[in-house]
Amino acid sequence: MLTQTSIFMITDPHIGHLYTAFLADAAHRWQKLTMGTSTDKAILSTGTDEHGLKVQRAATESGMPTQSLCDLVSQRFRALFDAGNIDYTHFIRTTDETHERLVQSIWLQLHDKGYLCKSTYEGWYSVPDETFLLDSQLTDGDEPGSKVSKETGHKCEWSLEENYMFKLSLFRERLLKWITKKPYPIIPDYARHFVIGYLTEEGGLNDLSVSRPLSRLQWGIRVPNDEEHTVYVWLDALVNYLTVSGYPNPGHLWPATDHVIGKDIMKFHCIYWPSFLMALDVELPSRIVVHSHWTMDKSKMSKSKGNVVDPFDRLETHGADKLRYFLLKEGSLHHDGDYHDSRLAQLANADLADTFGNLLSRATATKLHPPEIKLCIDPNHLMKDGKELLESLQRLSTTVNNCYSSYEFGRGISSIMECLHMANRFFGRHKPWTLVPNPDSHAHLGTVLAVSMETLRLCSILLSPIIPDSSSKILQRLGMSSESIGPEDLKFCMDRDFTGAPIVVGGSPMFSKKVYDK
Ligand code: MSP
Repeated sequence: MLTQTSIFMITDPHIGHLYTAFLADAAHRWQKLTMGTSTDKAILSTGTDEHGLKVQRAATESGMPTQSLCDLVSQRFRALFDAGNIDYTHFIRTTDETHERLVQSIWLQLHDKGYLCKSTYEGWYSVPDETFLLDSQLTDGDEPGSKVSKETGHKCEWSLEENYMFKLSLFRERLLKWITKKPYPIIPDYARHFVIGYLTEEGGLNDLSVSRPLSRLQWGIRVPNDEEHTVYVWLDALVNYLTVSGYPNPGHLWPATDHVIGKDIMKFHCIYWPSFLMALDVELPSRIVVHSHWTMDKSKMSKSKGNVVDPFDRLETHGADKLRYFLLKEGSLHHDGDYHDSRLAQLANADLADTFGNLLSRATATKLHPPEIKLCIDPNHLMKDGKELLESLQRLSTTVNNCYSSYEFGRGISSIMECLHMANRFFGRHKPWTLVPNPDSHAHLGTVLAVSMETLRLCSILLSPIIPDSSSKILQRLGMSSESIGPEDLKFCMDRDFTGAPIVVGGSPMFSKKVYDK
């Protein structure tokens, strides 16, 4: 299982970058949990995409040596992922030597197979997006004769140069066949339709310029056997997925299970990348997962507007688990999400503190745990609501698996919250505090506590891909370890006996509550 995030441009990290990583991380953690295998079978790779004109110019403007700038920014992304508790197994930098060698070897293979040829190419180029654009993708800029990208608003430059061209147009039919075959390799549906539209648009599949003259671009991988050219940054960057897999060495892990990307880079991943792989006769990734964007006050985040949400700052304010919870519950593959601290706090208060944390505090309250109590479920004391709760819990893992496996984390989390609400209602109705004084009611009391604790155990495990730190702390409070959890732990267990487990009774609230009025 090889899950890969898109790798990150050398730029200031923002909340959208962290979101890509959270999605891939949650999927990877879920794979590990359901596969029950050691980490060498489940890999999560991320990293930094360090070449290209954009980086070269940024270094010139900053007055820093380009390598130093890349080292600094790459380090910042690593620090971000560490702070966000991303369980990556591989962090690639496209300036790594093994990667550079693989890109050059792939170049030679494409060349030898006849897919590359030199020709003069002219068109509008967007440096921030590192791409040529079609006329239909451009609009007039403010200055006379200037052009900007319709999608990103970035200013374009006219470029007329001799380049190597990749024969992209040869791949239309094969791409269409791949994209439309079930199980669909591109999710969600709108992303697949976008790609089909692009493939059938006039000019959408023109041959692709895959080199830049060395005179313009020095910060990149050199074209083998031609001192005048540098490899186009997207061809270089996309190959990172193969590099990470260990390709072409024996035992490599290619093909990848999932590539997780944002919607702005679909063209590169769903058209260019599969075409390169087809040209190389290499298998395609099983699935490309396209997510939507995060906006601020419904508008695109941009430095010039000053509305960029700083992920370091947000992690510091809310902690990793609450930020992960909010982005994964509210974010969706299908539509953009709007970032609000107040919404985050509201959700964390309602779901984590008042529902999950509340059940934990109630079930582990000191006064409900007299020493002689047996903590196991006696079906005679369940009553109708207890039985209904148990039925829901027995179905829960399957529902969550269906949601998480298709990156519908929000729906998965909601189904867990629904069970936690039911469990809180069950607890309230059975009034366990009234059962403490009477020893004849202790089997009933033990049942209420055991049902609640088994609910907490199962929900903690199911939420562990989303809020890993809190989940393991809750399991500890229940007297369990979060270490060797496997697929067998995903079942609701009627017969579990918590008696004698090192349960932490009377602990402080697991989730603090914050008020945000903004
Ligand atoms: N370097 C390229 C990817 C090369 S992969 C072979 C790149 N980098 S990026 O830094 O611009 O973006 C990294 C990831 O963050 C992409 O998946 C991108 O779609 C995602 N996001 C960028 N802005 C975003 C939001 N505002 N919201 C959510 N995700 C966003 O593209």
